[in-house]
Amino acid sequence: MLSIIAALAREAGALLRAGLDQPRELTFKSRADLVTNIDLASEQLITAALREHFPDHAIVAEEGGGQDHGAQHLWLVDPVDGTTNYAHGYPVFSVTMALLDHGELALGVVYDPLRDECFTAERGGGAWLNGRQIHVSTTPELRGALLSTGFPYHRFTDPATNIPQFNAMIMQCQGIVRSGSAALDLAYVAAGRSDGHWELGLKPWDSAAGALLVAEAGGHVSNWQGAPYAPWNNHVVATNARLRDQIIGVLAGAEQQS
Ligand code: IPD
Ligand code: CA
Ligand code: CA
Repeated sequence: MLSIIAALAREAGALLRAGLDQPRELTFKSRADLVTNIDLASEQLITAALREHFPDHAIVAEEGGGQDHGAQHLWLVDPVDGTTNYAHGYPVFSVTMALLDHGELALGVVYDPLRDECFTAERGGGAWLNGRQIHVSTTPELRGALLSTGFPYHRFTDPATNIPQFNAMIMQCQGIVRSGSAALDLAYVAAGRSDGHWELGLKPWDSAAGALLVAEAGGHVSNWQGAPYAPWNNHVVATNARLRDQIIGVLAGAEQQS
């Protein structure tokens, strides 16, 4: 199953690559939340293939293709993670898919079509990058850590902006990346390229594959209070495990002050 999904992510990724230097049609879901014609084409390709391979499985895809009809197996699909980047021609985005089996994370894929990097994980089977096993970093202290984060689309209308948390964290760590693709951010935690990621406002299709990658690479994924990761909880902290308490502590402190 994992090889089918990895091949499908590569196929959708090729579509993204080919569309990057073509004129794009944009529509807006909200002030900052975009959809391009490539999001729709990629989602169409992925959902059609999933239906063909796994007719009994349900699909929930970001742009509305599919629905959760209570099946035991549910695919979460983000056909372009990093749409704002994509719409601007900024070359950081991914395709991501995850499978929930009775609500448990079972499979996850994050594919970066521009670097041709395919991150895959299967529950109990480790995390892999293009067939090479990956592990989280061993950075022991926040002061030596490179982290990543993101800012929610709802920030213009909802007071939960992540700005107080960002301000607090940037004074405690070595650096913070804001890539614009949460799925890739989480894959990079799994690969030890960064030491942790935190974010709020994430959807299940943004975080599920990356969460499995981090867990299978030896890291820890939770909500902001440290409770186990759940796809429908939009607050996510993923760390190399050693930094878990330090990162959660800074987020809690910023919350109290905001
Ligand atoms: C977004 C990206 C971004 C994150 C947003 C997501 P999209 O997904 O993952 O990094 O900060 O919260 O919605 O809209 O590009 O698929
Ligand atoms: Ca997304
Ligand atoms: Ca998307």
